[in-house]
Amino acid sequence: MLFGKRKREAVIDYENLPQHIGVIMDGNGRWAKKRGLPRSAGHKAGADSLKKIVTACNNMGIKYITVYAFSTENWSRPKEEVDYLMNLLLGYLRDAENTLAGENVVIRTIGSRTELSEEIQQQIIKTEEFTKNNTGIVMNIALNYGAREELTSAMRSLAEDAAAGRITPEQVTPEQISARLYTAGQPDPDLLIRTSGEIRLSNFMLWQLAYSEMYFTDRLWPDFSVKDREAAIIEYQRRNRRFGGVG
Ligand code: FPP
Repeated sequence: MLFGKRKREAVIDYENLPQHIGVIMDGNGRWAKKRGLPRSAGHKAGADSLKKIVTACNNMGIKYITVYAFSTENWSRPKEEVDYLMNLLLGYLRDAENTLAGENVVIRTIGSRTELSEEIQQQIIKTEEFTKNNTGIVMNIALNYGAREELTSAMRSLAEDAAAGRITPEQVTPEQISARLYTAGQPDPDLLIRTSGEIRLSNFMLWQLAYSEMYFTDRLWPDFSVKDREAAIIEYQRRNRRFGGVG
């Protein structure tokens, strides 16, 4: 841990950054309620907060960020809220072609696409194509994402390969499973951040988070600032990661 000369304040060690950060952006609704605003205003503020955090992570040299934007369970929210979130996501993807893309961000989505509207599916293809040759941070937007669905489809694909004689049961390895997830080819998150004081994973990246450091904060997502993100990284750098060994 490094300390600033004058204030003895912990500062980030740039040699030990997390490569991949996962974020459960929680608390938009409570943020809006506290202000007497509709929940939609909280989601809008959450999207603005996300833009700032991605830019800051990219500038800092972090390689991957995966953000939980809409879960497979979020369809159970009132239709009005689901429609609002879908429109916000569509606008975010469109807008990203002018903003985040210009900042060299690679934008991808993870999750099952078939339940999304044709318009969103087309926009995802367009935004991914538009940003695929960028060389900055890879931003995975988890959209209609659920870890159980992800793992189920990986298992199904393995079962199909086994039934067709393409692999034997002995060839089913953790690497084979990782290679069939939406995040194939990417490192697992080193750090998971969840805002709003809830301490649970809510079906987010259950396989990939096996050895991630967890950081829970009471801050509501729209209030989560670049400074808060720095505090999370500093806390991460204090941890002694042993991966089951003795360190
Ligand atoms: C959880 O807060 C947040 C969500 C279900 C949606 C996350 C979406 C955003 C941050 C904005 C849109 C994202 C993009 C990529 C445009 P909550 O609504 O459950 O809050 P609450 O627990 O306080 O009610």
